[in-house]
Amino acid sequence: MYPTLNLIYMFSSKITGVGHYVPENIVTNDDLSKVMDTNDAWIQERTGIQERRHIKKGDGNNTSIMGAKAARVALKRAGVSADDVDMIIFATLSPDMYFPGGGVQLQELLEMKTVPALDVRNQCSGFVYSLSVADQFIKTGMYSNVLVVGSENHSGGLDFSSRGRGVSVIFGDGAGAVVVSRNETGTGGILSTHLHSEGKHKDELMLQGPSTGHWVPELIAQNPQENIPYYPYMNGQFVFKHAVVRFSEVIQEGLEANKLSTEDIDMLIPHQANLRISQFIQKKMRLPDEKVFNNIQKYGNTTAASIPIALSEAWEAGKINDGDLVVLAAFGSGFTWGSALIRW
Ligand SMILES: CC(C)(COP(=O)(O)OP(=O)(O)OC[C@H]1O[C@@H](n2cnc3c(N)ncnc32)[C@H](O)[C@@H]1OP(=O)(O)O)[C@@H](O)C(=O)NCCC(=O)NCCS
Repeated sequence: MYPTLNLIYMFSSKITGVGHYVPENIVTNDDLSKVMDTNDAWIQERTGIQERRHIKKGDGNNTSIMGAKAARVALKRAGVSADDVDMIIFATLSPDMYFPGGGVQLQELLEMKTVPALDVRNQCSGFVYSLSVADQFIKTGMYSNVLVVGSENHSGGLDFSSRGRGVSVIFGDGAGAVVVSRNETGTGGILSTHLHSEGKHKDELMLQGPSTGHWVPELIAQNPQENIPYYPYMNGQFVFKHAVVRFSEVIQEGLEANKLSTEDIDMLIPHQANLRISQFIQKKMRLPDEKVFNNIQKYGNTTAASIPIALSEAWEAGKINDGDLVVLAAFGSGFTWGSALIRW
């Protein structure tokens, strides 16, 4: 069940640098209520979100550019130059173009060597999946420094009419990045990652088009007025119910695999999907407020970027210290979910 514990690896990996970037443009709940039928009280009560950041036309941002901004901060903090990076892993559900992916755009923006650039499409679990991939490449000794980036430009693709209010008030733009390096200290680092998926729920949180199943001419012919397949769909309550179960399960799975318990957690950073989900997990695990980091109030759900943004902010605030057990956990579209346990 837990293969990572049965294998002896030559190396272990650790996060040596964290960084994030969010656009300057703040969009409050009141701002949204001017363009759709919603209100601050509903959004705060159901999600905890007070405001989010949206790229503003002309501010020079897109998914890869925000990713590059976050990556530069993470590289600097890691003391690693772009030339020292052996691999890029880029997680997003909102790439600048259908193909090629954000990884190669980042490679160009950071003027990196011709290192491999891998794109990960696991939505809200994208960062944890990417971290796991980076961890495997380091553990086997193949690479020494892997740059992992999560970046999202949600505002470019949401339905800001009242029809889309159940989804569009939740999501925000931003990017986070980490440098995963070979752990030279011999202690700590990434202890384990556990990943899961359950495709039978793929229709509960999805964006159909553009895709080969919903290509532009077909869509326009079928549905000239309502470009529904081009906007995300979410069955909110269904997602909520599964999220609270899977978050708890996958954290527990990680703890058991490392023979640890919830009392050992120094900092839990859940994917920022909904403050109510985070609070539910916190209560279930009986964790005090200071051991759970949330910033959804300021940024909404930034999908693949949410955990690295939160990690970077928690680190900046001095809430993560050497030796701490940091637990990351994510759940999202697919459904996919995962956890990572890190001895900082
Ligand atoms: C999306 C979510 C906040 C909605 O909250 P909810 O309590 O389930 O609300 P519902 O969808 O049942 O909607 C309740 C009512 O509010 C209305 N509503 C939906 N969005 C609204 C908005 N932005 N403003 C005002 N009213 C809204 C609905 O139309 C519905 O009205 P009705 O009762 O007249 O039909 C919540 O389900 C959720 O967070 N789910 C998980 C989402 C998630 O984690 N997604 C990402 C996974 S990574």
